[in-house]
Amino acid sequence: MSDTLELDDLEELECELEAAETAHDRTLRRRAAALEIEPGADWNDVEHAMLTRRSIRKFKGRQVPAHMIRRILEMGRFAPSQGNCQPWSFIVVRDKAMIAQMEAYCVAVCQGMTASVDYTNYPEGSEQRAAILANTQALNRASPNSFHPVPMTAIKSIANGRFAVFHRAPTVILILMDKRGVGVPAIDVGCVGSNIVLGAQSIGLGTCWIGFSKLLSSNTELCEKLGIEEPFELAEAISVGYPIGNPTQQTISRQTHQITWWENGEKQILY
Ligand SMILES: Cc1cc2nc3c(=O)[nH]c(=O)nc-3n(C[C@H](O)[C@H](O)[C@H](O)COP(=O)(O)O)c2cc1C
Repeated sequence: MSDTLELDDLEELECELEAAETAHDRTLRRRAAALEIEPGADWNDVEHAMLTRRSIRKFKGRQVPAHMIRRILEMGRFAPSQGNCQPWSFIVVRDKAMIAQMEAYCVAVCQGMTASVDYTNYPEGSEQRAAILANTQALNRASPNSFHPVPMTAIKSIANGRFAVFHRAPTVILILMDKRGVGVPAIDVGCVGSNIVLGAQSIGLGTCWIGFSKLLSSNTELCEKLGIEEPFELAEAISVGYPIGNPTQQTISRQTHQITWWENGEKQILY
């Protein structure tokens, strides 16, 4: 027998593989087959989950069963990653005292940040106000994105207790990034998180990405307690729970980004 596969061998192999398929595999394969979609056709289930997902900031107190959290983590496990290096791991926090400790630490950091950059806390004409304003302007020049009005307003609200960092969710998933990941592991982490939030949406759970969770990274003791160890670092968190109300009906603005479309040697600009 030659060491290259002949066409017959390949067909035989395909038959063997098909015979080994379970009913579940067959359903997945059929679903994965390309569909003829008419323009304007109804959104399918996956598209619908993507379109109706909203960030949830109000959760019922009821805990989500552990198997549902395992289910959405399974969606994360199947996320794509560069070189399939899967540079992530998860810490699931369902312990009320632990979540409260995480919340308290982030609030304290925001209070410190507000005190050092919010000059409006001090009377006009005061020396303190002038000093804080100068400090803020310098920091803003050094790192403009960090002082964007959206995070700054949120930081102030967190410091004042008007905005909860983890939104009082019963479960918080910490996504850790393996810094040794190929290419840009932060992108892989984004893919994992996206799978998790969409998986959650598809089974009726609400989620919110928590970028402010990064504040925890400066608390070595808490990170150690949580189990965050080198070469992993805390990349993001996702709060999970049962949403209050019907958040899928909330609308949120989305820009129509320009699309540059090359076809048949021509460039078009579409929206
Ligand atoms: C990486 C990332 C970090 C985020 N961090 C926070 C956060 O710390 N707190 C929060 O309430 N929302 C957070 N969000 C949610 C965004 O505010 C939200 O996705 C955006 O406003 C669009 O709204 P939508 O998710 O309902 O479509 C984050 C989203 C992403 C993708």
